[in-house]
Amino acid sequence: MTALAAKVAIVTGASSGIGYATSKLFAREGAKVVVAARRQAELDALVAEITAAGGEAVALAGDVRDEAFSEALVETAIGRFGGLDVAFNNAGVLGEMGATPDVSLSGWRDTIETNLTSAFLGAKHQIPALLDRGGGSLIFTSTFVGYTVGMPGLAAYAASKAGLIGLTQSLAAELGPKGIRANAILPGAVDTPAYRAMNDTAEARSFVAGLHALKRIATPDELARSALYLASHASTFTTGSALLVDGGVSINRT
Ligand SMILES: NC(=O)c1ccc[n+]([C@@H]2O[C@H](COP(=O)([O-])OP(=O)(O)OC[C@H]3O[C@@H](n4cnc5c(N)ncnc54)[C@H](OP(=O)(O)O)[C@@H]3O)[C@@H](O)[C@H]2O)c1
Repeated sequence: MTALAAKVAIVTGASSGIGYATSKLFAREGAKVVVAARRQAELDALVAEITAAGGEAVALAGDVRDEAFSEALVETAIGRFGGLDVAFNNAGVLGEMGATPDVSLSGWRDTIETNLTSAFLGAKHQIPALLDRGGGSLIFTSTFVGYTVGMPGLAAYAASKAGLIGLTQSLAAELGPKGIRANAILPGAVDTPAYRAMNDTAEARSFVAGLHALKRIATPDELARSALYLASHASTFTTGSALLVDGGVSINRT
C-alpha cells in the first residue's frame, strides 16, 4: 500500500532541489502530480523520470507570483487527474540580501511576492478544490531563519518565511473544521542548487554543516520525506505546525 494512492498533488518549485525530490517521492507513493516552476526543460525531465518509473505527472511552467498561474495549476489537477488532495507550495528564493538600509524596495517586494504572496495565491485557489474532495493537506516551505534564529542580511527572506508561519496558522484554524490541514516545513540547510550557489567553497560548506547538531546538511530527499509525512495519513492530527526539519541548527550552540 502506498502512502498517497489515489491522491492528486501540486508541487511548486519542482524544477530543482526539494520540490524535485518531493515530486518524485509523491509519485512513487502513488500520487498523480502536477509539477510547477518557471523552467520548462527541467520540469519535462522530471515528468520523464516519473513516467519512466511508472508514475504519473504533468508539468505546467509559470511564475508563482502570477495569480493566473495558481488558478491554472488547480485547473490542471482537476482537468487531468480529477481533483486535488495535496498542495506543496514550496517555490522560493533567498532574494536580495544585505544590510537592511541597502536592500531595495523592489528586492524586498520581489522576495515577499515570491515566497509569501505566492503561498496565499496558491492556497486561495487550492482551497475550493480541496473542499470538493472533503478535505486535504496544504504544506508550505518556510525556514528556521526568522523563526528560531535571526541572521544578519536576510530581512526580506526572514520576513517572508515567518509570514508563511502566520499564514499556516490562520489557514489551519480557518479550515480545520472543514477537514483541511495546513502545515509548514522549516528546513535547515539542504544540499540543493540554491544552497550550493550560496556556499560555493569547501570551507563555507563545512562551516554551515558544523552549525547543525547533526554536523551535516540535509539531502533533498530527507525534506521530501517530511513533506510526505504532512501530505499523508501518517499526520492526520497534525495541523498549524511549524515543523522543524533542521538537523538541530535551531538548538545547537557548538
Ligand atoms: N536549500 C536550503 O538550504 C533551504 C533551507 C530552508 C528553506 N529552503 C526553502 O526551500 C524551498 C526550495 O528551495 P531549494 O533549496 O530546493 O531551492 P532551489 O533548488 O533553488 O529550488 C527553488 C525552486 O523554486 C522555483 N521558483 C523560484 N522562484 C519561482 C517563481 N517566481 N515562480 C515559480 N517557481 C519559482 C525554482 O524554479 P524555477 O527557477 O524553474 O522557476 C525552483 O524549482 C524554497 O522555498 C527555499 O526558500 C531551502
